[in-house]
Amino acid sequence: MNERDLDVHRSEEAITTALRADVREGLRATQKWLPSKWFYDASGSELFERITAVPEYYPTRAEREVLERESPAIAVTTAAHTLVELGSGSSEKTRLLLDALTEHGALRTFVPLDVSETALTEAAQAIATAYPRLEVRGVVGDFTEHLDLLPGTPPRLVAFLGGTIGNFLPAERAKFLRSVRDVLQEGEWLLLGTDLVKDQDRLVRAYDDAAGVTAEFNRNVLRVVNERLGADFRPERFDHVSYWDADNEWIEMRLRASADMRVRIPGADLEVDFAEGEHIRTEISAKFRPEGVAAELADAGFALREWWTDRAGQFGVSLSQSVRMIE
Ligand code: SAH
Ligand code: TRP
Repeated sequence: MNERDLDVHRSEEAITTALRADVREGLRATQKWLPSKWFYDASGSELFERITAVPEYYPTRAEREVLERESPAIAVTTAAHTLVELGSGSSEKTRLLLDALTEHGALRTFVPLDVSETALTEAAQAIATAYPRLEVRGVVGDFTEHLDLLPGTPPRLVAFLGGTIGNFLPAERAKFLRSVRDVLQEGEWLLLGTDLVKDQDRLVRAYDDAAGVTAEFNRNVLRVVNERLGADFRPERFDHVSYWDADNEWIEMRLRASADMRVRIPGADLEVDFAEGEHIRTEISAKFRPEGVAAELADAGFALREWWTDRAGQFGVSLSQSVRMIE
């Protein structure tokens, strides 16, 4: 892979401007929040990779089990020429799909897209080396904004793995699925990983591992704000909280102030006061039921073709096809 195989859709300056706007909106709200994409600078992406290996975080292993078992069938059913992966991270599990799709013979191009430039560059290079006959076209971008810029010829298979779809709020999720459907032609494919509702203890622990890797990952968003906007957050003064919201069926990640404090954020022209116990919501991770996934896909213009889970029924993977809709 060389330089021209990597498209970067955001300048450093544009990233800082976007963070500034998000910080001003989120930290001035009554219930403070920050968008989760800001976790993922170089160390955030590294920390996420470590999360995928902690014993409590089952989604990666469960999804891998499904991909190990079903990738050959996915290759035969889709006969994809292009594999697009959104929020691709390290693309480790994706190798199972790449193996099956290259074995099948139709695949020409792999297009990983991620906001994290370091994760994307490393993954794209490793994949290009491991699959020398594949055209690898990495895209550094935001999957809520840059879907129309994706290269590659149909039929395309868009993979969105890791349960990342759960990191949207429901309304954003509907909009996102619509936007994916809108860039696909009729008959093209979506492979979607969705973590499933299960007992509360297992869910809470998956986002609060004993070794504290997830806690460090969560606090990393404060370091990103410090670095980009010159803020003086002291991350160690915020406690990591993993909270199950039973009504919404989502895990909420929070950073809870351990004392009263005032934080200065010069790059956003802002001073923020925290009362002891007050929290910032840094992420939601929605958990799904099979019938809910099917309904949301149908609403967005996808016809569900296959539904698989790991043997223990922890994690769902759906394969669906874009259909023409009467708008
Ligand atoms: N697909 C991988 C990584 C999941 S973690 C897996 O299954 O293990 C979520 C990934 O999405 C991270 O790599 C993060 O950088 C990326 N991401 C988060 N928000 C994004 C956005 N708005 N646009 C593009 N990528 C995003
Ligand atoms: N998409 C992942 C998930 O919702 C992201 C993730 C895993 C995550 N562990 C986390 C995000 C901990 C924040 C904190 O499962």
